[in-house]
Order: sequence, then structure tokens, then C-alpha cells
Amino acid sequence: MGEDTWTAVDEYIARQLIGEDAALDAALQSSAEAGLPAIAVSPPQGKLLHLLARSIGARSVLEIGTLGGYSTIWLARAVGQDGHVLTLEADARYAEVARANIARAGFADTVETPEYFSWALQRTRSGGLIVADNVIRDGAIVDPHSENPGGLAARRLHEMLETEPRVSATTIQTVGLKGYDGFTLMLVD
Ligand code: DHB
Ligand code: MG
Repeated sequence: MGEDTWTAVDEYIARQLIGEDAALDAALQSSAEAGLPAIAVSPPQGKLLHLLARSIGARSVLEIGTLGGYSTIWLARAVGQDGHVLTLEADARYAEVARANIARAGFADTVETPEYFSWALQRTRSGGLIVADNVIRDGAIVDPHSENPGGLAARRLHEMLETEPRVSATTIQTVGLKGYDGFTLMLVD
């Protein structure tokens, strides 16, 4: 059992629990046509972000890394008519593709995309939830000699969480159509 099975299972989950979705499908297609890397969250992961945001009644979401706006559309659908998604993308070309995808999904007024990463330091409200993607990276997180920057960043994150009393966190390993990776959920007290 390996990547082929993980991908088949993700496709099964998406067929049964998500189905065809014109705006999301168009976002992935236009992202591929524009040559963006195929690293958006998987459909089941996108729906997880949506359900997490809904489950805490999120009205305001900060996303770091818009890419083509696929996850952004999932999040925009979670915050309701009066909600907001602030999404940051450093690459102007990706942001342009995302803007069109988000507008096509009907959320042009819900999602703002400023150019700077400094907003990343914005504080999260008590009861807010922070989700960090790509923290496992094929197991690089437990290899202190790994040169994988994602692995190093994930280790730093976990060291910070060890001593951060405001945050209750867990990390879940995942397999799927994007291989072996995982995410950290951090609930802010
Ligand atoms: C990469 C980035 C992601 O956000 C992801 O989910 C998978 C891979 C990457 O940069 O390779
Ligand atoms: Mg990711």
C-alpha cells in the first residue's frame, strides 16, 4: 500500500462527501493552466478547514499562503455573508490567479489579499484556531539532520508550542494524494 492507494482513497472520499463543485473545480483547473505548483490542500483537507472554521463560528480568518485560492474559497464559504477572509500571498502572479478564482466563486467582497506578510503577526482571538499545514514532510520533522526547511520550521514550531501556555495543540500525520505529511491544530485559550 502506498501513494496510489492513498490517492484512490482521497478520490473516493471526495466523490462521496464533496462531489463536483464548479467554483472549486475551476479554481484548480485555472491554477494548473497558469502553471501554479499543484500543492493546494486536497479536497478532503479543504473541507476540513471549512468544517473547523464553521465549528468555532469563525467570522474572521487569516490565511497565510493563498496560492490559487482553492483553500480560500473553502474558508470564505465558512465565514458567512458578514465574515471576512484575509489571505496573504507573496507571489503577485499567484495572487492574480487567486483573485479571479475567488471572484468566480462569488467571494470577491469577502476575501482581501494585501501584499505584505507583516499581517502574519496579527493576534488570534481567545477561542480562535490556528492550523499549520505541511509539518511532517515525509517524516523530516523527526530528523534533526534533515536539510528540509519545512522540517526545520516544524521542529521550531513544536519547540515554541512546548512552552506556550496560551495554546493547546496537537499534530496529526496524514497520507493522501499529496503523499505523507500532516498538520498542527492550535486552539488559543
Ligand atoms: C508544498 C506546499 C504545501 O502547502 C503543501 O501542502 C505541499 C507541498 C511545497 O511547497 O512543496
Ligand atoms: Mg499546504
